[in-house]
Amino acid sequence: MNILAIESSCDETAAAVVRDGTEILSSLVASQTDKHALYGGVVPEIASRMHIECISALVRDALTQASVQKSDIDAVAVTYAPGLIGALLVGLNFAKAFALGLSIPLIPVHHLRGHIASLYLDGGEPSPAPPFAALIVSGGHSIICHVKDYTTYELLGSTRDDAAGECFDKVARTFGLPYPGGAALSKLSENGDTSRYAFPRGIVRDHPLDMSFSGLKTAAVNQIHNAGQKGEELALADFCASFEQAVTDTLVPRLLTAARKCGCKTVCCAGGVAANARLRRELTKMCKENGLRLHLPSPALCGDNAAMIAAQGFHEYRAGNISPMNLNAYASRGIDVAFIQQH
Ligand code: KG4
Ligand code: ZN
Repeated sequence: MNILAIESSCDETAAAVVRDGTEILSSLVASQTDKHALYGGVVPEIASRMHIECISALVRDALTQASVQKSDIDAVAVTYAPGLIGALLVGLNFAKAFALGLSIPLIPVHHLRGHIASLYLDGGEPSPAPPFAALIVSGGHSIICHVKDYTTYELLGSTRDDAAGECFDKVARTFGLPYPGGAALSKLSENGDTSRYAFPRGIVRDHPLDMSFSGLKTAAVNQIHNAGQKGEELALADFCASFEQAVTDTLVPRLLTAARKCGCKTVCCAGGVAANARLRRELTKMCKENGLRLHLPSPALCGDNAAMIAAQGFHEYRAGNISPMNLNAYASRGIDVAFIQQH
């Protein structure tokens, strides 16, 4: 089964063709980050306009690179939630038109379900099969859930304020790094001393699997400003390493707690921040020490892409989650909420 997938929930327009939910025939991502870098973050109106400008050509190129004709596509999967509403609507309406024109099914895909499905794509390693515990950390979301089967989820914890990636990006911006600065900050942290600077580890009382990153973000931003005001030089590598360690210390133990809570021997981590080398190292260590199997997407599949939407689309299709043409987009919607058409 060939699925064409479209992703436009934030600042990346993506199109992919995936066979049988695992084999990537093509996967193209048109990033707009340079347009938003000017403003230090995503400007929703610009995002929508950029999606409109490139979506047709991107889908055409995805078909060409996959060496398929429109008639070879069996269904269209599209991200319908969560995300910037104007941005989502561009991909959604394009997908509707494509599916309607070819009389093929339209499959709604939740963006975070898509991030988890990046693990099902062929990447050389055997992919995980549910049930497993999953940590999804991106620029807009940080959640921990029990993936019970390919389309059934139980939300175990989430951030109460900022997402982990957002925290990376804000601290990076304070250093003057261009948006999104998470990867650049991570690069600076290499060989840094993780104990040189003190940072808080946020906890949410009585909710051990929930997270909070706003205290950490404020502490880091204040230290940078204070040093600037006093004319002091921060040891950049040590500062970034200490900050990154605080994020890692928040995430890693929670995934272990989640695995124990849901009785899973397999754990996964996905989303943009899952590309972080320190997080990958610490997760690997924790899993080894606790006899857990760890699955991580290849770094190239951690960030937003449409191949992951096609992979999840394949499972949604098998579960009968096909949408009529009045499908709407939703700025926020839980990963555990089943697809129900609202009238
Ligand atoms: O999943 P994603 O591409 O988009 C969303 O759904 O939000 O995640 C993007 C986020 C950004 O905040 C970016 O700075 C962060 O992932 N990111 C990283 C790294 N690579 C990307 N954060 C830390 N270390 C990295 N290596
Ligand atoms: Zn994402």
